[in-house]
Amino acid sequence: MKVLGIETSCDDTAAAVVEDGRRILSSVVVSQAETHARYGGIVPELASRQHMVTVIPAARQALDESGLDLDGLDAVAVTHGPGLAGSLLIGVGAAKGLALSADLPFLGVNHLEGHVYAAWLEDGDPERDAGFPLVCLIASGGHTDLILMKGHGRYELVGRTRDDAAGEAFDKAARVLGLGFPGGPEIQAVSAGGDGSAERFPRADVRDSLDFSFSGLKTAVRRRAESKGMYPPSDERPRDPQEVADVAAGFQEALVEFMVRRTLQAVERYGGRGVLLGGGVAANTLLREEMSRRAPVPVVAPRPALCTDNGAMIGAAACFDLLRNGARREWDLDVLPSLRLG
Ligand code: KG4
Ligand code: ZN
Repeated sequence: MKVLGIETSCDDTAAAVVEDGRRILSSVVVSQAETHARYGGIVPELASRQHMVTVIPAARQALDESGLDLDGLDAVAVTHGPGLAGSLLIGVGAAKGLALSADLPFLGVNHLEGHVYAAWLEDGDPERDAGFPLVCLIASGGHTDLILMKGHGRYELVGRTRDDAAGEAFDKAARVLGLGFPGGPEIQAVSAGGDGSAERFPRADVRDSLDFSFSGLKTAVRRRAESKGMYPPSDERPRDPQEVADVAAGFQEALVEFMVRRTLQAVERYGGRGVLLGGGVAANTLLREEMSRRAPVPVVAPRPALCTDNGAMIGAAACFDLLRNGARREWDLDVLPSLRLG
């Protein structure tokens, strides 16, 4: 089964052809990071307009690189939520047109389910390597959810952020420290030369909840930067790179510690047989290492390039959906900006 997956929920335009939910025949990601970098965050209207320009060329390239044309596909799938409404509309419209033109089955995919099924790509198989139930930590720029996956397509939301998403916290901390966008990779890179113990941040609460909260940590980073004269930026006093590295490392350690602790609490409470990491923040090396070191069960995570948004994860989730629910043509599909999983 060969599926074209299209993803335009946020700021990357992505298209990929996936076979049987596991093999990537082609994968194209057109980043908009440069467009949004100067604003320090995503500007929704600019994102939609960029998708409008790039979505068909990205799909065309994905088909070319897979060696298939539309007639060689078994279905077209597209992210229909959650995400930015204007961005989602572009992808859904384009995908409907492509599917209609070749009279192919067509279905909408939940972006968060895409992040989950990224772990099945490239010979990954969390079911084989760990088993259900899996505790899934899906952490991205818009979401930080703990989802209990009880089987294919069966989810229960057991924890979520009450304020910022983890990726958002990375992006905001990076902005305060004068680093680029997106902030996660930048913070990770400068932290390598920093000493987190020199700039410790309070560990988040240990209350009996599986929810996250990152706004306190975000504020603490801003206050620390202000007290050191690093923020707001000033021309007279450039930031000391070592101080930036130390604060970045302290922030990253505190955030990772919180995410690992919550995830392991969920494993214990629900008898999780494995931990599945997904979403852009799952590309973080410290998070991957700490989770693997401390979890009493196997930890599965796609390679970093498959943690951030891509079309292959949408194609993979669609294949597993089609296997369970059969082919259909969802011509009346709408976008659902606030769609949840579980
Ligand atoms: O899943 P994703 O590509 O898009 C959304 O669905 O939001 O996640 C993007 C987020 C950004 O906030 C980015 O800063 C963060 O993932 N991110 C990282 C890393 N790579 C990307 N955060 C921490 N460490 C990383 N290496
Ligand atoms: Zn995402």
